[in-house]
Amino acid sequence: MKRMSLRKVSLSLIPVFGLVLLVPSLQARPKLSPKQQQAVTEAVGTLTSFSTLREGLASTLEGQEEVTIEDFRRVCAPIGQQVRAWAEEKGYQAKQVSTRYRNPNNKASEEEARELAWLKANPNLKMQARPGQIKVNEEMISGVHLYVPIRVASSCLHCHGAQDSRPEFVRQNYPEDKAHGFKTGDLRGMYSVFIKD
Ligand code: HEC
Repeated sequence: MKRMSLRKVSLSLIPVFGLVLLVPSLQARPKLSPKQQQAVTEAVGTLTSFSTLREGLASTLEGQEEVTIEDFRRVCAPIGQQVRAWAEEKGYQAKQVSTRYRNPNNKASEEEARELAWLKANPNLKMQARPGQIKVNEEMISGVHLYVPIRVASSCLHCHGAQDSRPEFVRQNYPEDKAHGFKTGDLRGMYSVFIKD
């Protein structure tokens, strides 16, 4: 008898746990209009291609003994430029941000840090998108906040690996560098984009 009722109790808990799991995922995915959805899909495609490009560029450093600022100029620097050029062309706002940043200009805001924590806890997520507003010149603009994770490939470790093995130019140019000590698969940061309606 006692056993039966215990089983009943645990069965009745299933919907409760289900709900607890469901609530955050519902919060994370509010409805977008079809037009917003289309812009998001397109932007995710572009940003993913930037990441693939960066991984390809970084993998050319394979086997290289010394990595210099010249290498940076053909790996992470061009990606930053491409993100800026794409955003300008589209009329979006876009940056790469991280809580473990190398350039302090790429420091995540409090809201972005919350998104990063969520993406870190959910390694299978490809993106997060939610409608919102930003203030530009005292004017409220409606659109979608889009966050796309940037994950660490083994080729990134030449410059974002162990603190002691960072290239000389990184030690010299970024005294407050936090973007080291990563392992393959870690969350490096994210693209943070505002797609105006
Ligand atoms: C040749 C060295 C080098 C390699 C390889 C490299 N990075 Fe970087 N990365 C840098 C430097 C230097 C910066 C700082 C850029 C700046 O000053 O804006 C940076 C910045 C970044 C940023 C911007 C956020 C921040 O910390 O300032 C991201 C994101 C990033 N790297 C991701 C990656 C990923 C992912 C890979 C591998 C696919 C990679 N990097 C490979 C040197 C490198």
